Amino acid sequence: MKPKFISMALAAAAGIGLATPAVADTKVGLLLPYSGTYAALGNDITDGFNLALELSGRTGEFEIVREDTEVKPPVGLAKARKLVLEDEVDVIVGIVSSGVLGAVRDFVDGAQVPLIVANAGNDNATGDACSAYITRVSFSNAQVNRPMGTWMAEQGIKKVYTLAPDYAAGRQMIEAFTETYTAAGGEIVGGEYTPFGQTSDFGPYLANAKASGAEAIFVFYAGGEAISFVKQYGSFGKELPLYGSGFLTSSLYVNAQGEAAVGVTTSLHYVPTLDTPENNAFVEAFGAAYEGRTPSEYAVHGYDAAMTLMAAVDSGASDRETIAATLPQVKYVGPRGPLEIDPATNNVVQNVYIYETVMDGGALTQKVVGTVEAVRDDPKGCALQ
Ligand code: BEZ
Repeated sequence: MKPKFISMALAAAAGIGLATPAVADTKVGLLLPYSGTYAALGNDITDGFNLALELSGRTGEFEIVREDTEVKPPVGLAKARKLVLEDEVDVIVGIVSSGVLGAVRDFVDGAQVPLIVANAGNDNATGDACSAYITRVSFSNAQVNRPMGTWMAEQGIKKVYTLAPDYAAGRQMIEAFTETYTAAGGEIVGGEYTPFGQTSDFGPYLANAKASGAEAIFVFYAGGEAISFVKQYGSFGKELPLYGSGFLTSSLYVNAQGEAAVGVTTSLHYVPTLDTPENNAFVEAFGAAYEGRTPSEYAVHGYDAAMTLMAAVDSGASDRETIAATLPQVKYVGPRGPLEIDPATNNVVQNVYIYETVMDGGALTQKVVGTVEAVRDDPKGCALQ
């Protein structure tokens, strides 16, 4: 969606100067899902990216080529090759699925094209398969889930059943949660991985969770699967308390889940209710540009990807090599709070918020119940420094 005109006042509130549009001199490949189970996520990232350019008055400096990954690793790789070899982009921004990031990693590293990861949390991309050409401004799968394992054990929850889609992100998120939860004394009494993008009936999985003797369920689902899962959890009477990584009840689709989402507690690096000057200005600007919509974590990824790219260009980066080298130097306070890139891994360092979805005045909203500050990943074999 194209943002509506942004006023000088909103740009000033967001702490951004309005510059004179220049001739496009940086070519950006937006590599995102615009179809499939994560299509809404790709659109929100695009909206956040465009908003940052509009607010800064710099849309004319960046030429954008969009490609649809369809959330399919071979398609994502083919589209990355097309962006680099045919369109000759200076930088790729995007990728939502950990599976697609895994497929594209070797190509961008070998072609020496900078990639700003604006969602996919695949731990390997900033771990043992890290690259000087990959900078992640979103999150890693371990980063958002490790704090939740410790927190749930501290709440006295002793037995948990886990569910997630059967692909890299699902497995990594559950493994990270399991590691800290069991280290803090919790027990995983069972779990299943559901066929990714093909599961429409979660009833049998919810029944197995109930039969396992667990006190609670911990899950990762996002996009269309998150909507179906939470709605079915509601229709089965919310028999066990539901926890998860915060994509489950993202502000992007929580209204489609409705009452079923109330009481679900999750962890994430951004919620739109953060009461800071930077976030309040961002929420206002996003709503003004996009028909009153509330920004999600996905919109913030797109926004911060553009902010990071503009900062790199402002520091003198002008080609693939200098953009890649300059991106990791970013450090600023944005909508999600303090953000910096860890030079040891090129992964973002950021706060993780534990939030409960609540009903307030007839509307679903996010109540922050805990904050873990400046969460940094272990390098896990990454040797960038
Ligand atoms: C992933 O595949 O890494 C992912 C997809 C959607 C939300 C969060 C993570």
